[in-house]
Amino acid sequence: MEAEIEKIIISEADIKDRVRELAERIIADYERKELTMIGILNGGLIFLADLIRHIPFAVKIDTVRVNAYAGNATYPKREADIVDSIRLNVKDEHVLVVDDILDTGKTLLKTLDIVKKLNPLSVKVCVLLNKQERREREINPDYCCFEVENRFVVGYGLDYDNRYRNLPYIAVLREKQDK
Ligand code: XMP
Repeated sequence: MEAEIEKIIISEADIKDRVRELAERIIADYERKELTMIGILNGGLIFLADLIRHIPFAVKIDTVRVNAYAGNATYPKREADIVDSIRLNVKDEHVLVVDDILDTGKTLLKTLDIVKKLNPLSVKVCVLLNKQERREREINPDYCCFEVENRFVVGYGLDYDNRYRNLPYIAVLREKQDK
């Protein structure tokens, strides 16, 4: 796998530090509140798993599965599709939606739409990466670990054609991997 990587843009150590810092902010903001964290599959899986293990109070966890890409494309579909929705009742709970990256904004906006219909007390967005330059929808993260430039990135949950999710860092692939 490593032969296919052009360069590492965020190291494993930097991810660990920022995830811990961000968890401290979440702890301060949600202590003594009923918090449900909703991870977006598959990309948000690893970030969610690392984040929740820093949280010392009870949180509920659920997931939503969203399809943003067709096959092995590096450009998202026109609209993201919710293919498996949340199961928990989040009425009167605080909700934090967790994803790997906020890119065009379609995936998170679609997820927020379905969560808001369930009448939670509040809904906020938490992402590992923010790719501001490619935004097509009006949405900003409430919690974010890193800003990234407009390049297709993989690792730490992010994939190309379902590969590279298990890399412990964020990297850019060599040119021949791109479409
Ligand atoms: P949108 O465009 O809806 O994108 O904000 C969010 C979802 O698309 C995936 N995504 C990426 N995956 N490298 C990836 O491996 C990228 O650079 C990238 N940009 C977006 C991601 O799964 C996210 O949930």
